[in-house]
Amino acid sequence: MEHNLGNSSLKVGDMEFPPRKVWMKTYGCQMNYHDTERIMSHLSELNFTKTDQQSDADLVIFNTCAVRDLANQKFYSHLGETKKLKNISSTSSLGELKKNVIVAAGGCIAQTEGKELISKYKQLDFAFGTDVIDNIGEMVYRAYAGEKKFSVTSWDKSENYSIETKITQGSPMAFVNIIKGCDKFCSYCIVPFTRGREKSRRLEEVVKDVKRLVEYSGVQEVMLLGQNVNSFGKENGESLAQLIMELDRIEGLQRLRYTTSHPYDVTDDLVEAHKSAKKLANHLHLPVQSGSNTVLQRMLREYTIEHYLGLIEKMRKANPEMIISTDIIAGFPNETEEEHEATLKLLDDAQFDFIYAYAYSSRKGTKASRMNDVLNDDIRGRRLREIQEKQLKIQANIRQQMVGKTYRILVEEKGLSKGVLKWTGRTSCSRLVHFEPPVADQDFQWHWVDVEILSATALSTQGKIIKDHGKTL
Ligand code: SAH
Ligand code: SF4
Ligand code: F3S
Repeated sequence: MEHNLGNSSLKVGDMEFPPRKVWMKTYGCQMNYHDTERIMSHLSELNFTKTDQQSDADLVIFNTCAVRDLANQKFYSHLGETKKLKNISSTSSLGELKKNVIVAAGGCIAQTEGKELISKYKQLDFAFGTDVIDNIGEMVYRAYAGEKKFSVTSWDKSENYSIETKITQGSPMAFVNIIKGCDKFCSYCIVPFTRGREKSRRLEEVVKDVKRLVEYSGVQEVMLLGQNVNSFGKENGESLAQLIMELDRIEGLQRLRYTTSHPYDVTDDLVEAHKSAKKLANHLHLPVQSGSNTVLQRMLREYTIEHYLGLIEKMRKANPEMIISTDIIAGFPNETEEEHEATLKLLDDAQFDFIYAYAYSSRKGTKASRMNDVLNDDIRGRRLREIQEKQLKIQANIRQQMVGKTYRILVEEKGLSKGVLKWTGRTSCSRLVHFEPPVADQDFQWHWVDVEILSATALSTQGKIIKDHGKTL
């Protein structure tokens, strides 16, 4: 067999699984990227290893995102291209026939459109939703057993959300899901339809999970994940603030982050945690979506700008090092020029460190998609540009204040920038910093390093190394 790299076949049930390659493409948010890692870990139990070459793959999986039209279109065009994978019987480098490729689509588009995808795209073998990823092994088994064209999009009906985090990369940074789903139903958003209802893991389970990751997998930095982590534990009388305080005590864990937060659910306890938890990062991503109270009402966001600004003030008081970032939607249906101006004003008032800004995109099934909308793409595009341009100026200014200060970063990767080799890491406040190694071949991968900032622009920060702490602090 062409892909047999000398490893032996694995017997699962009554089927042989020879060594095979899987190619995966992920769209969307960190939840999706984390799901991909989870899928990969299940597939390795069926003798799959990863490949970066789609043409090399036995199994092709798309993990899709439905949040905006652009993400949808990208996936459809990539899926379209896989048609040729199925039709070709080209020869491999070994001169043997390439065998049948299996193509699957999972994630948020597949959750709501699994059946349609299967019938519309001949090359698609199966589709699976967001709540069945732990059954991926079974689905792949079915596909190799010859079952064709199935779609699995059921919701997990069990009362508890209980998992163990799976990591595959040997990195000291781990994503840990603490809550799934979203009950907020913001009027523009598809996520509650693609991810289902909120369900939290138990606090004790998460603490044990993180302890295990720290003790046995060398994890030092943890990102707690959920569409709305501030709702964590509601159904169990537990809270995110409690969880943070428990995790803060784990020896060997250095940094703790969480995303994403909804302003409505930010409690005083959470503000307090930003003051007292020593490991909690100096960063809060708190999506505001708009600077206009009337737009926020139409978005069903449940807070006012005054409340939002009050919250970030409290956070900054609790931890003066704290930086705040946000998400903004430009051109929500029928947004007036005045409402748009209110968002521009908010940028001045809030002084965000960075923002993700998007043009509103109508999503089928959401309340906003049923609004009679007078705006067009040109207006949305122009407003988006105005928001981005204004923010870049503010950001350049804020980041200028970093110059001369020293930050501790965890080095994530190296790369060439204009022909110069640089290492890159992230500060506790989530800013990327690049630095040149003092000696050409010096390896800083996953080192904790203190860097003094030499220059900073809106988008990039350069530093020089002051101290190398090595891989553990
Ligand atoms: N759960 C998170 C993120 C959800 S999706 C939260 O509540 O903040 C990430 C971002 O995509 C949102 O914050 C929002 O800014 C943007 N978004 C969601 N739906 C959108 C739509 N229909 N059009 C444009 N942007 C959208
Ligand atoms: Fe979407 Fe709102 Fe839920 Fe965030 S809180 S995922 S924007 S519905
Ligand atoms: Fe996209 Fe689904 Fe995440 S719609 S943003 S991948 S939850």
